[in-house]
Amino acid sequence: MTKLPIGVFISGRGSNLKSIINASKDLNFPGKISVVFSDNPDAKGMELAYENNIDAISLNINDFKDRNYFEEEILKLIEPYNLELICLAGYMKILSKRFIDKFSGRVINIHPSLLPKYKGLNTHRRAIENKEAITGCTVHYVNENLDDGEIILQKKVKIEDDDTERTLADKVLKEEHLIYPEAIKLVLKK
Ligand code: GRF
Repeated sequence: MTKLPIGVFISGRGSNLKSIINASKDLNFPGKISVVFSDNPDAKGMELAYENNIDAISLNINDFKDRNYFEEEILKLIEPYNLELICLAGYMKILSKRFIDKFSGRVINIHPSLLPKYKGLNTHRRAIENKEAITGCTVHYVNENLDDGEIILQKKVKIEDDDTERTLADKVLKEEHLIYPEAIKLVLKK
């Protein structure tokens, strides 16, 4: 099977990147990671790219006049990879409409809540404070609004009485690692 080229954008730890790398080693997985991009050269996830011989690019937005110039440079650098899909995996910059339009329908993101609930940061803390019984994670298409866009896959996680922000984050993250590769399969097989 010909594997379609995927780009993964990260800013930090890269545990979702790791789950995608592992999944893509399966011969039947429809994609392969051609390039990892980070807006933070020190992101821990970059090591995973190096270890797995995946091209890795990083740019610091502060080296550019504004976000447009930053994104123009990203587009220039990833152009040769002919990416079929861009997967945001803990990427902490908001992409402009212009960038998203260039990859129309081909940028997806993972978010640690059951969207549309708890967009933005500190999702687990807010879910616990609001005494939710259930939370979870979502893979969705990216549009110009934060944590918006059509939902591809979700997984629910039960919140126990003794859950803390930390324990809940760990439980949800385990599910993230399962649904992100599944969602990529769904999108690439469309
Ligand atoms: C994940 O919880 C993801 O849902 C959110 O940022 C976190 C990234 O973690 N968007 P990692 O870098 O993949 O370990």
